[in-house]
Amino acid sequence: MNHVTNDQSMNKVTKDELKSEWEALAPGWIERTRHQGDAHRAGLLDDYMLAACGEVDGLRVLDSGCGEGRFCRLLAERGAAEVVGIDLCQPLIDAARALPMDRLSYRVGDAEDLSDFQSESLDLAVSYLNQCDLPKFERNNEAVHRILKKGGRFIVANLHPMRSAVGGWKKDAQGRKEHAIVDHYFEEGQRSWKMLNVDFTNFHRTLATYMNAFLQAGFSLEKLVEPRPTAAQMKQYPDIEDEDRVPNFIIYILRK
Ligand SMILES: C[S@@+](CC[C@H](N)C(=O)[O-])C[C@H]1O[C@@H](n2cnc3c(N)ncnc32)[C@H](O)[C@@H]1O
Repeated sequence: MNHVTNDQSMNKVTKDELKSEWEALAPGWIERTRHQGDAHRAGLLDDYMLAACGEVDGLRVLDSGCGEGRFCRLLAERGAAEVVGIDLCQPLIDAARALPMDRLSYRVGDAEDLSDFQSESLDLAVSYLNQCDLPKFERNNEAVHRILKKGGRFIVANLHPMRSAVGGWKKDAQGRKEHAIVDHYFEEGQRSWKMLNVDFTNFHRTLATYMNAFLQAGFSLEKLVEPRPTAAQMKQYPDIEDEDRVPNFIIYILRK
């Protein structure tokens, strides 16, 4: 994912434009996820996310912004009673439905508006690298809080706020990474990136903004995790070595 600009003067992207960006990303995303593999997920985040979810046997679960369904499938394999994946992007939901499993269903839907879910109907909700894509992520918090049962958990993996501000590395003349660049941290708002050769937009907010919004929605913070790879993981997935220097991701374990 290459950073392009954080120019605050650029036009605010609309929800329809965000949707179109993901529709353009979908073929490459599905190809990478299913055939090339995503080292950051398979080599690092999945282990941390599954540990954060804990025992899912018998639970009713939502994956908010599920993409082509990979984490839904992992949860269903681990015995969840029901997993519902929602995503704004029809081609990703079509791809998810093409790999059906028992107790697993998908809907095209907006993570900021979960009004077709009953209040207090779910035990666990997951947001796996989706809140950075939401212009109004607070609405996702409020919606998930409403549909979780009392005591239910919300596991949110997100880009680390120290990395979503700008991204990129300062490199020496030989192209070796000297240090990660952190700048414009307090300038919240949309950022433009290029991923899989497609221009797309996401949103940077500070750690305080995220944390305070979780509390405002009524969640308590049970644990904060900054995933760091083990030596064995880095040996198997050399692409994640940077994660041992500067965390790219953060996981908030929240409880209603
Ligand atoms: C970085 S991908 C993560 C997908 C999946 N959770 C994974 O880890 O493979 C972000 C996903 O959020 C979805 N998305 C973006 N805006 C959304 C919205 N408002 N509601 C639901 N999904 C959205 C995109 O279509 C995309 O599938």
